[in-house]
Amino acid sequence: MFKLAVIGNPIDHSKSPILHNYFGDLYNINLQYQKILVEPDQLTKTIDDFFKKDGKGLNVTLPFKKEVFKLCDKTSDNALKAQSVNTLYLKEGKLVGDNTDGIGFCNALTKQHNFNLTDKKVLILGAGGAAYGIIFPLIDQKIKKLTIANRTKSKAQDLTNYFNNFNLKIKLDCCDLAQLNDNDNDCYDLIINATDSGLKNNDILINNNLFHKNTLIYEMVYKSNTPMFSWAIANQLNYIDGLSMLIYQAQFSFLDWFGVMPNLTKQQYLNLVNLIKND
Ligand code: ATR
Repeated sequence: MFKLAVIGNPIDHSKSPILHNYFGDLYNINLQYQKILVEPDQLTKTIDDFFKKDGKGLNVTLPFKKEVFKLCDKTSDNALKAQSVNTLYLKEGKLVGDNTDGIGFCNALTKQHNFNLTDKKVLILGAGGAAYGIIFPLIDQKIKKLTIANRTKSKAQDLTNYFNNFNLKIKLDCCDLAQLNDNDNDCYDLIINATDSGLKNNDILINNNLFHKNTLIYEMVYKSNTPMFSWAIANQLNYIDGLSMLIYQAQFSFLDWFGVMPNLTKQQYLNLVNLIKND
C-alpha cells in the first residue's frame, strides 16, 4: 500500500484523493490518499513525519506552495522557475519538489480544450503563486504577448521583473488591475483569472475592448458560478473553470510518483469529472 496525501490549510475542499484513487484503480496500484490539515508552524514537521513513516508522495496546496519550495533539497526545473512546489517525493533520501500546475494547465488547454496557444495574446489577472506557476509553460507554447494585471501593482511589477530577467522570447507587460481598462487597448485571445476573486465572489471588470468573440476565459479556481463565469456568459464568451487543470496537474504528480502517466480516455475523463462534481 502506497501512502499519499495532500497538505494545506484549509484542506477539506480538496479533490485530490478522488483523482489519485481513480488513477490508482486504473493501474491496479494500491494506494491510500489522505487530506492533512497543517498549521503553519507544523509544516516542516508534518512533511518530515510523513516521509519518515514511509510516505510515497505529497501534494502541496494553499498557502504552502512557496514555503515548501524553500524546504526542498532538490527541485525540478518547473518548480525552480515557478519558485513554488505542489508535488513532493523522496529520491535517494533527498526531498524533491516539483511543480505540475503550469504543465497541467497548458496540457488542459491544448489537449482537453483543443486551444492552440501559439501566437496567442494572453492576459493574466493576478500576480500570486497561481500566476507564477503558469508563465514559463505558457511561454514555452510560443504565445505572442503576455500582460499581467494585478490589484497591487507592485506585485505585478515584481513578477514581471522576475520573468523578464530570464531573457525570454517575449517581454512581459504589467499594469494595475484598476487601470487595465484605461491603459490597454489590446485585444486578448485568452484571459486567465489567476486571482482568488472567484473564491470570494468578487467581480473583476474587463472592458469590451480587451476581448473578441473567440476569446477564451479560463478561471483557475474550480468553483461553479463565479462572477467571472456570469460575466463570460453575459458576453457570450467561452468559459472554462479550473477542473481540467486540476485533473491534468494531478496526472503529472502521479507520473512523478509512479513513473506512469495516467492518460484517460474521453469516457474515463467524463467519469472522473462526474465523480468530482458529485462529491
Ligand atoms: P495564489 O497562490 O492562489 O495565487 P496568492 O499568492 O495569495 O494566492 O495570490 C492571490 C492573487 O489574487 C493576488 O494576485 C491577489 O491580488 P493582490 O496581490 O493585490 O493581493 C489576487 N486577489 C485576491 N483577491 C482579489 C480580489 N478580490 N480582486 C482582485 N484580485 C484579488
